Amino acid sequence: MNPTASQPDIRDQLLLRLAESRSITDELFRIVRTDALYDRPIPERHRIVFYIGHLEAFDWNLIAGHALGLGAAHKELDRLFAFGIDPVDGGLPRDSPSDWPRLSEIGAYNLRVREGIDDILKSHSQASASHWQYPREVILNVAIEHRLMHAETLAYMLHQLSPDRKIPPRGYQPVDTRSRLPIASRMIDIPAGLATLGIPRAGDVFGWDNEFEEHSVEVPAFAISSHKITNGDFLRFVREGGYDDRRFWSAADWAWIDKQRIAHPHLWFNRQDQWFYRSMFEEVELPLDWPVYVSHAEAAAFARFTGQSLPTEAQFHRAAYGTPKGPEEMEPAYPWGDAPPDAGRGNFDFERWDPVAVGSYPDGRSAFGLEEPLGNGWEWTASPFAPYPGFQPFPFYRGYSADFFDGKHFVVKGASPRTAAPMLRRSFRNWFQPHYPFVYASFRCVSN
Ligand code: AVJ
Repeated sequence: MNPTASQPDIRDQLLLRLAESRSITDELFRIVRTDALYDRPIPERHRIVFYIGHLEAFDWNLIAGHALGLGAAHKELDRLFAFGIDPVDGGLPRDSPSDWPRLSEIGAYNLRVREGIDDILKSHSQASASHWQYPREVILNVAIEHRLMHAETLAYMLHQLSPDRKIPPRGYQPVDTRSRLPIASRMIDIPAGLATLGIPRAGDVFGWDNEFEEHSVEVPAFAISSHKITNGDFLRFVREGGYDDRRFWSAADWAWIDKQRIAHPHLWFNRQDQWFYRSMFEEVELPLDWPVYVSHAEAAAFARFTGQSLPTEAQFHRAAYGTPKGPEEMEPAYPWGDAPPDAGRGNFDFERWDPVAVGSYPDGRSAFGLEEPLGNGWEWTASPFAPYPGFQPFPFYRGYSADFFDGKHFVVKGASPRTAAPMLRRSFRNWFQPHYPFVYASFRCVSN
């Protein structure tokens, strides 16, 4: 293997992936009617228009700024669009639409940034590895995955816009809510054994800072739900007064549902005593066999209602990647084995805007029989988001994970319909606040 000969390949691949990720976010903004682009669908977050500029400003600040030490693309806009994270327990932003640049100005900025970045990446002199303060491949993966993650978090946000503010994309297939056969949900026994979390620093696999180092965890035997908890399962909790019974809720979670008057999952609504569901573009009768999307607080309350708990991060790993055959070398890259993900393995990678019935992807099953560990909804864990032993922040993005090691965020594993394929790797960790109701996250229960 001649390393110099393979280099243009890797660079071309990364350029191609950057271009693809740009078309994904470009298409996403196209589902918003132009007159809704300055709306703020989630009160705590920025207006939609912020994110149109943010994706390019982030790339410029990272690639031209941190990695290459070049000047600004546009002094004010580089800074205006630099940060876009949910505040924790903060006040609400109070800006008005006229505080933001016009679309034409942002469009010109974006074009300029994209051309500038493409020039940098294509030009041999500057792109030659020696000019980069950090490994070029790591930086480009960070840019690509940052954009792809926003493609998902933006989908949560655009979900909150009413259907008449959105335009379904060409080729949109209405949601399929036909009921299937009854789901044979059961508890699966997982024997005691090792789970391998994280990735080794020595390899050349890309991972975010929080995915290092690789380490094994001894997991005692436990039992876990074969399928994600469905809307139908959760309806029992609602009907039996789960939201009125303090015993199922932690003090903080109870205070939250009480103050916000939360009495059912966020995407459900009730009309004349019948339950309906807000999908991305439609309102439909509550699909009982879809995974329920809820906050961590609601997931934990349901688990307590059934006398169970949420799985830890290590338990999820053990159920999804462990094998009856044993030692950790046997753990495959994906729950189903080492074959790369494709559309037959789960509801992920932007194939759909909404869930499908649980149990729709037998080819996604893990060795222990866990159904669809990847896709159709993230899964809440009981584990607070915390560093693995040996954690080191990315020097060019110190706060990416470290800002959230605060005990106020929980690890979520798996993937949703709007999770891009690269994030389906075993070590990828997502995290959200326990009272964040917007995320496409479901859960399973365990008994220990
Ligand atoms: C990893 C999805 C929790 O959206 O808050 C985007 C990803 N970080 N820009 C988030 C992220 C900075 C992050 N999550």
